Amino acid sequence: MKTRVLTGITTTGTPHLGNYVGAIRPAIAASREPNVQSFFFLADYHALIKCDDPDRIERSRLEIAATWLAAGLDPQRVAFYRQSDIPETPELTWLLTCVTSKGQMNRAHAYKAAMEANQAEGEDPDAGISMGLYSYPILMAADILLFNAHRVPVGRDQVQHIEMARDVAQRFNHLFGHGHDLFVLPQATVEEEVATLPGLDGRKMSKSYDNIIPLFEGGERALREAVARIVTDSKEPGEPKETEDVPLVTLFDAFATPPERAAFRAELRAGLGWGEAKQRLVAQIQGQVGPMRATYDELMAHPERIEEVLQAGARRARAVAQPFLAELRRAVGLRPMLAAPARPAAASAPAAEARAALPAFKQYRESDGRFYFKLAAANGTLLLQSQGLADAREAGAWVKRLKSEGEAALDGAPVALADGVPRESVAAALAALRAAEA
Ligand code: TRP
Repeated sequence: MKTRVLTGITTTGTPHLGNYVGAIRPAIAASREPNVQSFFFLADYHALIKCDDPDRIERSRLEIAATWLAAGLDPQRVAFYRQSDIPETPELTWLLTCVTSKGQMNRAHAYKAAMEANQAEGEDPDAGISMGLYSYPILMAADILLFNAHRVPVGRDQVQHIEMARDVAQRFNHLFGHGHDLFVLPQATVEEEVATLPGLDGRKMSKSYDNIIPLFEGGERALREAVARIVTDSKEPGEPKETEDVPLVTLFDAFATPPERAAFRAELRAGLGWGEAKQRLVAQIQGQVGPMRATYDELMAHPERIEEVLQAGARRARAVAQPFLAELRRAVGLRPMLAAPARPAAASAPAAEARAALPAFKQYRESDGRFYFKLAAANGTLLLQSQGLADAREAGAWVKRLKSEGEAALDGAPVALADGVPRESVAAALAALRAAEA
């Protein structure tokens, strides 16, 4: 089985170098590895939590999609989609919400930070905090668990959210998995060296600190202007410079090979001026980003091309999400009302009555001399009909397999669903039989 790698990027603001280095670049590199199946998406439902400006949401979705494509994402290889095109995501969010403890959400960094900021200003602790912000980690867990992602490349600030997703997955598995795990437990992967890039002022590069360096928007000129505003100490050219914990050096590192990094440090220690150093930094970034600019501009001029790519991506993602969500609905008890339900353990019914209320297989022989079987719901509705088989033992073996393996055996079996009966109902009937047998 392939390793599934999944990551999302919140569509507020303009992609900056921090996004590129911390998320986009490592994710695209990972998507090229053999035996990896990647899911990358625009987290536009998450964007609504932080932003109530529709035009900004629209613009940012476009910029971010164009960015990923220009940065080398191959939509043939990767399922690339918008979170809001996957209705299974909010559905799963609710299933997870029902098994997530409120106390754990109280400890989420984003919520705690907002609350502490309120307290510092003498406000009500929950002032201006929406339920969206509060439940943010659950929506994110749904993003991840819906696709059973093994690895989630994120910035360090997001690691707590992946841990929360693991916890929720574990609880869900425990409650509803009955011995077989419904969810894979995801693992955060943080690119150790350069996971959080400093911004112009040395704090983490972030839209909320207004200290970003744009990736593509504004072209090379905007890059140059932003780099000119990076804060340095006031040492003159000729004076030896500090090279550790210096934002400009960390930014350089993110675009340089180890020998380039060593050479840059040596020059700074030998007195390279900060102005010169900034020009080196611009050239270093341009070396990687420059060749992608034309693709970016082209896509921004043709949003309909991006739309097409994203819709194709959503179809691929939903081909995975839809059947899985159907399984999860069954697991929590949201089942079609065709099969007689297993009784809650507490209200133990007489065994005979319970058995009478179960769907049943029947085997028989027709006048054509062939052997048949069928599955009927407890109320007699025909669910499944076999083809004629030459051998009674073969028919018996199929019934046995369907009983013991349930839906998994359906695809290879010589059977057809009865007219108008959804596959889900058959799956539920088989599951009910299996549960009764166990
Ligand atoms: N919360 C993430 C961020 O702000 C974006 C995101 C949403 C995400 N859903 C996700 C990242 C699922 C990884 C997996 O960066």
